[in-house]
Amino acid sequence: MNSDNDLQIAGDILEVQHLLQPPREHPATVAEFVGLARSVAADRSEWEHLVRYDATTRWYHRLRTGPGYEVWLLSWVPGQGSGLHDHGRSSGVLTVLEGTLTERTERGTRALAAGAQRVFAPGYVHEVVNDTLEPAISLHIYHPGLTDMPMHASPHCEARTEPAARTRPVTA
Ligand SMILES: [Fe+2]
Repeated sequence: MNSDNDLQIAGDILEVQHLLQPPREHPATVAEFVGLARSVAADRSEWEHLVRYDATTRWYHRLRTGPGYEVWLLSWVPGQGSGLHDHGRSSGVLTVLEGTLTERTERGTRALAAGAQRVFAPGYVHEVVNDTLEPAISLHIYHPGLTDMPMHASPHCEARTEPAARTRPVTA
């Protein structure tokens, strides 16, 4: 026997399959929610044909629901923004699918390019804006589903001239 081996498998490896944990149908951890967002992001056929751009109001579409969570698809035309808000009781994962969004928090401003992900806990306050000249698309997972999105007074509002940025979003 080779003492360097910690794992000894007797018999046919294929028969071990029934001992393995089946993949969970629904995500239940932060890592799994991040993974779900990445898998949706990678499968453009699931969402690309659904996207609409609306210059007069924020566009959003509920892409998927599961036990205790919701997945939303959002589009942002240039200049559109969420306003400063939190997410009530919900935690979330924000994933940029296309374009670049700017996220502002009390800690500063960061550009989120396609593929960027932000994970946030209940109480997280931010503002998301499309500051570019190209439309952007994002995917938002909320756990539990977003029922309340309290708006906060934004220190940036006075400096902003785009009317669309002042509209109250339903989800972001
Ligand atoms: Fe948000």
